[in-house]
Amino acid sequence: MTHSNGHLGRIATAAGLGLMAGLAIPHAKKAVMQGPSLAAGDWVAALTAEHRLVEKMFDQLLATGDDEKMKRDMLLAKIAYAITKHGIEEENVIYPALAENARTDQAHHLTHDHAEIKTFIYDLRRTGSTDPRWLIKARAFWGQLQEHMREEEEDIFPAFRDALPPEENARLTRMMNWEGFKVA
Ligand SMILES: [Fe+2]
Ligand SMILES: [Fe+2]
Repeated sequence: MTHSNGHLGRIATAAGLGLMAGLAIPHAKKAVMQGPSLAAGDWVAALTAEHRLVEKMFDQLLATGDDEKMKRDMLLAKIAYAITKHGIEEENVIYPALAENARTDQAHHLTHDHAEIKTFIYDLRRTGSTDPRWLIKARAFWGQLQEHMREEEEDIFPAFRDALPPEENARLTRMMNWEGFKVA
């Protein structure tokens, strides 16, 4: 009986440790994923750093061959994950802030771009990464995404940031980091 209790106790302890590990891992992951955003003190710099990360992954993706299905699928999954987090940060904070400050046309235009980006990801997955058309579609996707990022980081975002007082920019950065943390 004592032996049995001890055994159960060990199982319970193991389960407890498992639970703790289960809780700990996402936090560690969050800290890593959130790193660039938190390190960059302002929201424009944070979003620009995330653009660069996506750029690196696309460089790798576009260098793959039709026989590298696993690598393509893995990279596309990583890109889709990064874009989803990034999109939430922009759509839930930055674009509404643009609209709130009489820049509604810009907010709508950028939101529309995000819808197209989602369609590109969907289409790539539907096509399948061994299809010869896949790389052509991936290149078209990257062209569109680059133009969207360039417009944000060189034109719309810096102009908007410079028009806002520092405390409002700090508030946007905090709100945006919270959105990113939520989905990371
Ligand atoms: Fe965007
Ligand atoms: Fe962006």
